[in-house]
Amino acid sequence: MHLILGIETSCDETAVALARAHADGKCEVVASLVSSQTRLHEPLGGIVPDLAARAHVRNLPVLVAELKKQTQLEWSDLGAIAATAGPGLAPCLLIGHTFARTLGLALGKPVWSLNHLEGHLLSPWLATGGAPEYPFVGLIVSGGHTLLIHATAPGEYERLGGTVDDAAGEAFDKIARLLDLPYPGGPHLERCAHEGKGDAAAHAFPQAFPAGGDLNFSFSGLKTAVRYFLEKNPEAVTDAKRRADVCASVQAAIVGALTRKTLEACAQTGVRVLSVSGGVACNSELRRALEAKCRKAGVALRMAPAELCTDNAAMIAFAATHRQAAGLAVQARADINPSWPLAAGTSANRVAMRRDRVKQKRA
Ligand code: KG4
Ligand code: ZN
Repeated sequence: MHLILGIETSCDETAVALARAHADGKCEVVASLVSSQTRLHEPLGGIVPDLAARAHVRNLPVLVAELKKQTQLEWSDLGAIAATAGPGLAPCLLIGHTFARTLGLALGKPVWSLNHLEGHLLSPWLATGGAPEYPFVGLIVSGGHTLLIHATAPGEYERLGGTVDDAAGEAFDKIARLLDLPYPGGPHLERCAHEGKGDAAAHAFPQAFPAGGDLNFSFSGLKTAVRYFLEKNPEAVTDAKRRADVCASVQAAIVGALTRKTLEACAQTGVRVLSVSGGVACNSELRRALEAKCRKAGVALRMAPAELCTDNAAMIAFAATHRQAAGLAVQARADINPSWPLAAGTSANRVAMRRDRVKQKRA
C-alpha cells in the first residue's frame, strides 16, 4: 500500500489529490481538491493561458498545504508524485509538472508524468476504485478533445476517431458565446435549454456524418450554421423562449453526433463496455441518450459522476496507480508535452476490415 499525490494544472483548474494504492491493484481516493478559475476567465470570455498559469502558481502551494492538513499527510508516508505532463496549455502544464519535479527532488520521492487524457479515459472506474474492464471503447469529450479510443489492455490504446475541427466542448462554448451566454458555455447552454423548456426539434441544425462508417467528428459546420441563423434571426438571442429553442436544438445536434459515432465504434470493434469521460460528459442529455442507446445495444456504460468528469487530480493519481499495478513503467519526463497524443491511429486497412465485419453482421 502506498500513497500517491496527484497534481493537475493542464488548463484552468488547479487540482491536487491523494490516492491510496493497494497491493491488489485497487485504488482509493483519500482526498481531491479542485480550485476552478472560472471567475477569473469569465469576464474575458475564454481562458487566457498566461493568467491561468499565474493563478496555478498562486493556488497550487495553497491547495497542497490544504490537502496535507485535511489528510494529515506526513511527507515521509508519500510513495510518489504523479503530475500531468500533457496534453494541455504549455504555461499551465509547466507550473504543475515543475512543481511536482521540484517537490520530488526536495523530498527524495519519485515523480511520474501522466497523460491528461489517460486520466479522463479511466475516470469512470475512479469511484469504484476497481480495475478498468478491458477491452472497452472510450469516448473522451472535453473542451480541448473529442476522441474515440479502443483500449485493449493497460496502456494499449488505439485511436478510432476524433474531431477534425472543434472539440465538442469547444463547440458548446463557441455557440454559447454567439448566444450571449457566459463562459464556460457548455453548462450555461444546457441550463438555458432546460430551464427555458427549449424545443430540441425547433431547428434541424446540421450534424456531420461523413459516409462509410467513419468515426471522426466535425462540429465547425454546426457552429457556422448557428452563426448564420442568428445573423438572420437576432431575436433568437434576446427572446428567452427562442434562445432556449436554439440551445436545445444545438444540444440535440451535438449529442446526436456523439451518440451515433460512439455506438458505431462499439459495433465496429465488437466491444461491450463503453467509458465516457471529460467535461462534456456532465451533460444530462448526453448521459440520458447514451444510457438509452447502450441499453438497447447491450453495451455496459461506465460514466464518472459529474464532479469527476471535469478536470481533477484524482484521475491523474488513479491512472498512475493503475499503470503501476499493471507493471507499466510510469515515464518520468524531463519536459512537458502540450500535444502528447494518447494513442496512435488505426490503419485504413483495419478500419475497412471492421466496417466490412459490421456490414456482414447487419446483412
Ligand atoms: O474536461 P474539462 O473540464 O476540461 C478540458 O480538459 O477541456 O472540460 C471542459 C469542457 C468545457 O468546454 C465545458 O463547456 C464543457 O466541458 N462542459 C459541458 C458541460 N459541463 C462542462 N458541456 C456541455 N454540457 C455540460 N453540462
Ligand atoms: Zn480535461
